[in-house]
Amino acid sequence: GFLRRKVCVLIIGLDNSGKTTLVANFLHPPPPSLPQKNFDSNNTDNASPAPSLPSTSQPASHPPIVPTVGFSLDRFNYQNLHITVFDMSGQGRYRPFWEHYYGDADGVVWVIDSSDAVRISVAREELWRTLAHGEIKHRTPAAPVLVFANKADLSGAMTAAECTAALGLDAIRDRNWNIVPSCAITGQGVAKGLDWLASELS
Ligand code: GTP
Ligand code: MG
Repeated sequence: GFLRRKVCVLIIGLDNSGKTTLVANFLHPPPPSLPQKNFDSNNTDNASPAPSLPSTSQPASHPPIVPTVGFSLDRFNYQNLHITVFDMSGQGRYRPFWEHYYGDADGVVWVIDSSDAVRISVAREELWRTLAHGEIKHRTPAAPVLVFANKADLSGAMTAAECTAALGLDAIRDRNWNIVPSCAITGQGVAKGLDWLASELS
Protein backbone atom coordinates (compact mmCIF):
# COMPACT_ATOMS: atom_id res chain seq x y z
CA GLY A 1 0.00 0.00 0.00
CA PHE A 2 1.03 3.63 -0.03
CA LEU A 3 0.68 6.34 2.51
CA ARG A 4 -1.59 9.21 1.71
CA ARG A 5 -0.39 12.67 2.56
CA LYS A 6 -2.60 14.16 5.28
CA VAL A 7 -3.80 17.67 4.56
CA CYS A 8 -6.33 20.05 6.08
CA VAL A 9 -8.64 22.08 3.90
CA LEU A 10 -10.82 24.91 5.17
CA ILE A 11 -14.03 25.54 3.25
CA ILE A 12 -15.39 29.02 3.82
CA GLY A 13 -17.56 31.65 2.16
CA LEU A 14 -20.88 33.36 2.82
CA ASP A 15 -23.90 31.45 4.10
CA ASN A 16 -26.04 29.78 1.42
CA SER A 17 -23.16 29.66 -1.09
CA GLY A 18 -23.24 25.85 -1.19
CA LYS A 19 -20.27 24.77 0.96
CA THR A 20 -21.98 21.85 2.67
CA THR A 21 -23.51 20.73 -0.62
CA LEU A 22 -20.02 20.74 -2.15
CA VAL A 23 -18.64 18.70 0.74
CA ALA A 24 -21.43 16.15 0.24
CA ASN A 25 -20.10 15.89 -3.30
CA PHE A 26 -16.51 15.47 -2.15
CA LEU A 27 -17.62 12.58 0.06
CA HIS A 28 -20.04 10.96 -2.40
CA PRO A 29 -19.47 12.04 -6.01
CA PRO A 30 -22.78 11.59 -7.89
CA PRO A 31 -22.97 9.57 -11.10
CA PRO A 32 -22.25 11.76 -14.16
CA SER A 33 -25.77 11.27 -15.49
CA LEU A 34 -27.39 14.48 -14.31
CA PRO A 35 -28.01 17.28 -16.83
CA GLN A 36 -24.86 19.20 -17.68
CA LYS A 37 -24.74 22.82 -18.65
CA ASN A 38 -21.89 24.58 -20.41
CA PHE A 39 -21.02 27.34 -17.99
CA ASP A 40 -17.49 27.86 -19.24
CA SER A 41 -18.54 29.75 -22.32
CA ASN A 42 -20.37 33.02 -22.63
CA ASN A 43 -22.68 31.79 -25.36
CA THR A 44 -25.77 33.82 -25.95
CA ASP A 45 -27.24 31.01 -28.01
CA ASN A 46 -30.28 30.03 -26.00
CA ALA A 47 -31.71 27.70 -28.59
CA SER A 48 -31.66 24.73 -26.22
CA PRO A 49 -33.50 25.15 -22.93
CA ALA A 50 -31.41 24.98 -19.77
CA PRO A 51 -31.63 21.53 -18.18
CA SER A 52 -33.62 21.47 -15.00
CA LEU A 53 -32.16 20.13 -11.79
CA PRO A 54 -33.76 17.42 -9.69
CA SER A 55 -36.77 18.99 -8.01
CA THR A 56 -35.49 18.21 -4.52
CA SER A 57 -32.57 20.58 -5.14
CA GLN A 58 -30.44 18.23 -3.05
CA PRO A 59 -27.98 15.55 -4.10
CA ALA A 60 -29.88 12.27 -4.41
CA SER A 61 -29.83 9.82 -1.51
CA HIS A 62 -28.25 12.15 1.01
CA PRO A 63 -29.76 13.48 4.18
CA PRO A 64 -31.18 16.96 3.60
CA ILE A 65 -28.59 19.73 3.79
CA VAL A 66 -29.38 22.43 6.31
CA PRO A 67 -27.48 25.61 7.23
CA THR A 68 -24.37 24.63 9.13
CA VAL A 69 -24.20 25.46 12.84
CA GLY A 70 -20.63 26.27 13.83
CA PHE A 71 -18.75 23.86 11.61
CA SER A 72 -18.59 20.24 10.63
CA LEU A 73 -15.55 18.09 10.09
CA ASP A 74 -15.24 15.40 7.44
CA ARG A 75 -12.48 13.23 6.06
CA PHE A 76 -12.10 11.69 2.64
CA ASN A 77 -9.41 10.31 0.38
CA TYR A 78 -8.71 12.02 -2.91
CA GLN A 79 -5.94 10.80 -5.19
CA ASN A 80 -2.80 10.63 -3.02
CA LEU A 81 -4.30 12.79 -0.28
CA HIS A 82 -6.17 12.13 2.95
CA ILE A 83 -8.14 15.34 3.31
CA THR A 84 -9.63 16.64 6.53
CA VAL A 85 -12.16 19.27 5.59
CA PHE A 86 -13.52 21.89 7.98
CA ASP A 87 -16.88 23.00 6.62
CA MET A 88 -17.51 26.30 8.36
CA SER A 89 -20.84 28.06 8.73
CA GLY A 90 -20.94 31.20 6.63
CA GLN A 91 -23.53 32.99 8.72
CA GLY A 92 -22.35 36.34 10.05
CA ARG A 93 -22.45 35.28 13.67
CA TYR A 94 -20.16 32.29 12.99
CA ARG A 95 -17.63 33.99 10.69
CA PRO A 96 -15.47 35.07 13.66
CA PHE A 97 -14.72 31.35 14.22
CA TRP A 98 -13.06 30.92 10.83
CA GLU A 99 -9.78 32.42 11.96
CA HIS A 100 -9.26 29.74 14.61
CA TYR A 101 -8.67 27.25 11.78
CA TYR A 102 -6.50 29.43 9.53
CA GLY A 103 -3.27 28.17 11.08
CA ASP A 104 -4.17 24.56 10.24
CA ALA A 105 -5.27 25.20 6.67
CA ASP A 106 -2.97 23.69 4.06
CA GLY A 107 -5.48 24.85 1.48
CA VAL A 108 -8.54 27.08 1.38
CA VAL A 109 -11.69 26.46 -0.62
CA TRP A 110 -13.62 29.70 -0.94
CA VAL A 111 -17.20 29.26 -2.13
CA ILE A 112 -19.35 31.98 -3.65
CA ASP A 113 -22.90 31.95 -4.95
CA SER A 114 -22.16 33.22 -8.45
CA SER A 115 -25.84 34.02 -8.98
CA ASP A 116 -25.85 36.48 -6.07
CA ALA A 117 -24.58 39.73 -7.61
CA VAL A 118 -25.74 41.71 -4.57
CA ARG A 119 -23.70 39.88 -1.94
CA ILE A 120 -20.55 39.36 -4.01
CA SER A 121 -19.19 42.61 -2.59
CA VAL A 122 -19.62 41.16 0.90
CA ALA A 123 -17.84 38.00 -0.28
CA ARG A 124 -15.01 40.16 -1.63
CA GLU A 125 -14.62 41.91 1.75
CA GLU A 126 -14.61 38.63 3.65
CA LEU A 127 -12.17 36.99 1.22
CA TRP A 128 -9.70 39.83 1.56
CA ARG A 129 -10.12 39.86 5.33
CA THR A 130 -9.11 36.19 5.29
CA LEU A 131 -6.14 36.78 2.99
CA ALA A 132 -4.91 39.63 5.20
CA HIS A 133 -5.08 37.57 8.40
CA GLY A 134 -1.66 36.89 9.90
CA GLU A 135 -2.22 33.13 10.24
CA ILE A 136 -2.89 32.94 6.49
CA LYS A 137 -0.52 35.66 5.32
CA HIS A 138 2.58 34.43 7.12
CA ARG A 139 2.05 30.70 6.77
CA THR A 140 4.68 28.70 4.88
CA PRO A 141 4.10 27.21 2.47
CA ALA A 142 1.38 29.62 1.38
CA ALA A 143 -2.03 27.94 1.30
CA PRO A 144 -3.48 27.82 -2.22
CA VAL A 145 -6.98 29.23 -2.64
CA LEU A 146 -9.55 27.50 -4.79
CA VAL A 147 -12.64 29.59 -5.48
CA PHE A 148 -15.73 27.68 -6.50
CA ALA A 149 -18.02 30.01 -8.49
CA ASN A 150 -20.90 27.84 -7.35
CA LYS A 151 -24.53 27.79 -8.53
CA ALA A 152 -23.22 28.28 -12.06
CA ASP A 153 -26.30 26.35 -13.19
CA LEU A 154 -28.62 29.23 -12.31
CA SER A 155 -29.59 31.57 -15.11
CA GLY A 156 -27.93 34.92 -14.69
CA ALA A 157 -24.98 33.43 -12.81
CA MET A 158 -21.82 35.46 -13.28
CA THR A 159 -19.07 33.87 -15.35
CA ALA A 160 -15.71 32.95 -13.83
CA ALA A 161 -14.23 36.09 -15.41
CA GLU A 162 -16.95 38.26 -13.90
CA CYS A 163 -16.46 36.67 -10.47
CA THR A 164 -12.68 37.11 -10.77
CA ALA A 165 -13.16 40.82 -11.41
CA ALA A 166 -15.80 41.26 -8.70
CA LEU A 167 -13.62 39.53 -6.09
CA GLY A 168 -10.40 41.21 -7.23
CA LEU A 169 -8.63 37.85 -7.54
CA ASP A 170 -6.01 39.19 -9.94
CA ALA A 171 -4.58 41.17 -7.03
CA ILE A 172 -3.64 37.97 -5.16
CA ARG A 173 0.14 37.82 -5.44
CA ASP A 174 1.26 35.83 -2.41
CA ARG A 175 -0.20 32.43 -3.26
CA ASN A 176 -1.59 30.31 -6.05
CA TRP A 177 -5.29 30.63 -6.71
CA ASN A 178 -7.80 29.32 -9.16
CA ILE A 179 -11.49 29.82 -9.86
CA VAL A 180 -13.73 27.03 -11.14
CA PRO A 181 -17.46 27.33 -11.92
CA SER A 182 -19.45 24.59 -10.22
CA CYS A 183 -22.85 23.17 -9.58
CA ALA A 184 -22.71 21.44 -6.22
CA ILE A 185 -26.00 19.66 -6.88
CA THR A 186 -24.92 17.84 -10.04
CA GLY A 187 -21.25 17.86 -9.09
CA GLN A 188 -20.30 19.60 -12.32
CA GLY A 189 -16.93 21.33 -11.97
CA VAL A 190 -16.22 19.77 -8.57
CA ALA A 191 -13.58 17.30 -9.81
CA LYS A 192 -11.89 20.01 -11.87
CA GLY A 193 -11.52 22.16 -8.76
CA LEU A 194 -10.41 19.31 -6.51
CA ASP A 195 -7.88 18.13 -9.09
CA TRP A 196 -6.26 21.55 -9.10
CA LEU A 197 -6.21 21.71 -5.29
CA ALA A 198 -4.83 18.17 -5.01
CA SER A 199 -2.00 18.99 -7.42
CA GLU A 200 -1.22 22.11 -5.36
CA LEU A 201 -1.15 20.13 -2.12
CA SER A 202 0.76 17.08 -3.38
P1 GTP B 1 -24.07 27.74 5.48
O1 GTP B 1 -23.83 26.40 6.11
O2 GTP B 1 -25.26 28.44 6.07
O3 GTP B 1 -22.85 28.60 5.49
O4 GTP B 1 -24.46 27.48 3.92
P2 GTP B 1 -23.67 26.60 2.85
O5 GTP B 1 -22.67 27.45 2.15
O6 GTP B 1 -23.16 25.36 3.48
O7 GTP B 1 -24.82 26.28 1.77
P3 GTP B 1 -25.60 24.89 1.59
O8 GTP B 1 -24.67 23.83 1.08
O9 GTP B 1 -26.35 24.61 2.82
O10 GTP B 1 -26.56 25.26 0.37
C1 GTP B 1 -27.50 26.32 0.46
C2 GTP B 1 -28.61 26.12 -0.54
O11 GTP B 1 -28.10 26.27 -1.87
C3 GTP B 1 -29.23 24.71 -0.51
O12 GTP B 1 -30.62 24.85 -0.74
C4 GTP B 1 -28.57 24.01 -1.67
O13 GTP B 1 -29.37 22.97 -2.21
C5 GTP B 1 -28.40 25.14 -2.67
N1 GTP B 1 -27.27 24.91 -3.59
C6 GTP B 1 -26.01 24.59 -3.25
N2 GTP B 1 -25.22 24.49 -4.32
C7 GTP B 1 -25.99 24.78 -5.39
C8 GTP B 1 -25.74 24.85 -6.81
O14 GTP B 1 -24.63 24.65 -7.31
N3 GTP B 1 -26.80 25.19 -7.60
C9 GTP B 1 -28.05 25.43 -7.10
N4 GTP B 1 -29.01 25.74 -7.97
N5 GTP B 1 -28.32 25.37 -5.77
C10 GTP B 1 -27.31 25.05 -4.93
MG1 MG C 1 -23.07 24.68 5.39
